[in-house]
Amino acid sequence: MRHSTLRQLEVFEAIVRYGSYTRAAEELFLTQPTVSMQIKKLTDAVGLPLFEQIGKKIYLTDAGKELHEMNQDIFKRFERFEMIAADMKGMKTGKLRLAVVTTAKYFVPRLLGMFCRQYPGIEVSLKVSNRAHILERLANNQDDLYILGQPPKEIDVIAETFLKNQLVALASVEHPLANEKGITPKRIVKEPFLSRESGSGTRIATERFFADQGLKPKIRMELGSNEAIKQAILGGLGLSILSHHTLALDAPTGQLVVLDVKGLPINRHWYYAYPAGKQLSVVAQVFLEYLQQAPQLLVDISCHYANIGHCPLLTSGNKKSSYQS
Ligand code: PGA
Repeated sequence: MRHSTLRQLEVFEAIVRYGSYTRAAEELFLTQPTVSMQIKKLTDAVGLPLFEQIGKKIYLTDAGKELHEMNQDIFKRFERFEMIAADMKGMKTGKLRLAVVTTAKYFVPRLLGMFCRQYPGIEVSLKVSNRAHILERLANNQDDLYILGQPPKEIDVIAETFLKNQLVALASVEHPLANEKGITPKRIVKEPFLSRESGSGTRIATERFFADQGLKPKIRMELGSNEAIKQAILGGLGLSILSHHTLALDAPTGQLVVLDVKGLPINRHWYYAYPAGKQLSVVAQVFLEYLQQAPQLLVDISCHYANIGHCPLLTSGNKKSSYQS
């Protein structure tokens, strides 16, 4: 086994990733017979089959699964070493794997744009999913860093806030409550409510807000994205509580209003997190440092894009803001 080469492990890893010899060969610029030969050598060295073919699909055998796990460790350590070596040479290069909750997509890509311009040698991959999926990834240590609205209690993590996140009640400008002041939560629950899907952090925070007051909203519809909810609000289907960030840039200006509800906004924060005990890579550390400037960077950008004198995205306190133009 020790005579197996790194190349063979690389070929093995690519086959697992693509589930195909052909695609692995393409990625590694090898011919398919070469890929097959490398896997045969590796299989001989292990002394057990690594893959089994059922129909057109290939699956890992138990030995293959064990090898895959070890392989991932080896390649992670390699990547880490490459980054450290690059850092010693005064360069910031390597991969940054970020996984963020759905709502963070309203500002993380903009932060990444500037980050990538500042560090062109860093290659970033971004996974966007709801809270439940992100926590699953975090528990399995699949990425370098995570961005979410509330650190999990059930997983031991290092987490810190870096940006405000206010959850506000949104309605269509035509809604009868649109121009009212000091609306009570009791009044809100009389209206049809549009809720995010289960597993969403926004939904958990919203449910807690109502539950704390002994209230339960009348759910008219559950929708799997903030955008779908905004469209449903505009379609007159009801009200919702969403992060103020969902109004960034692509807000259908002039059609949505933030309602003046007592007890709102729900003042939350965005956290970065990673599993406790995880050794952060050089580029992950660079990104964490960069994140400290997030409030300032986003103020600049939102003012620039929205071409407005103030930046409602990041204001604090119970200010009523509307997007009527
Ligand atoms: P969500 O998470 O996008 O899954 O709703 C947002 C949050 O946790 O605040």
